[in-house]
Amino acid sequence: MIKVALPKGRIAQESLALFERLYGSKFAFDDRKLILEHQGFTFMLVRSQDVPTYVIHQAADVGIVGLDVIEEQEADVVKLLNLGIGKCKVVVGSEVGKSLDYRKPQLKIATKMPHITRKYFSNKAISIEALKLYGSIELAPLVGLSDAIVDIVETGATMAQNNLKIDEVIMESSAYLVVNKNSFYEKKELILALYERLKSTLES
Ligand code: PRP
Repeated sequence: MIKVALPKGRIAQESLALFERLYGSKFAFDDRKLILEHQGFTFMLVRSQDVPTYVIHQAADVGIVGLDVIEEQEADVVKLLNLGIGKCKVVVGSEVGKSLDYRKPQLKIATKMPHITRKYFSNKAISIEALKLYGSIELAPLVGLSDAIVDIVETGATMAQNNLKIDEVIMESSAYLVVNKNSFYEKKELILALYERLKSTLES
């Protein structure tokens, strides 16, 4: 049995659809249920940022999670396979018509991802203050909370709708199959069989 942590939302839906293709049967959680046992798997539905915690503590053997989340948490997991779903970019953005003034003594950057943000600007020797927010990041520069944002862009619609532009792309992200190191050892055959099946289904 393999325990799989899935991030609630679109990636979970796309992952379950992928498992349906793999095993030719329906994988669906009952309404409001957070656990699904099917075909030798126990799926659990968790917040995307919590997937690494479940995997690191081996409550799940494997997880499906965005590279952005892994990087933000510097999560100690094996990145086994890029699933190519949940594609997005982590970008620096600011208001249209305004250019970012890097000569300011300290830029204020609003973000859900303070670790990626600090690392990125520190590598460029730019002094910033990262303001940690939990959502609606695009609002911050519009009301003077920050000079810029570091946020996820998928379609670009939210930024466009809020009169923001992309200044820099920090990283490209997509969802990965990640594995707990002990589970990888203990359940190597099961996990590698899943890996092979996923890989060939994704290639076909
Ligand atoms: C993410 C991100 C952007 C939006 C980007 O937020 O923080 O706000 O999606 O998507 P788009 O480029 O397709 O418009 P999410 O939907 O996760 O909501 P949140 O702000 O509540 O975290």
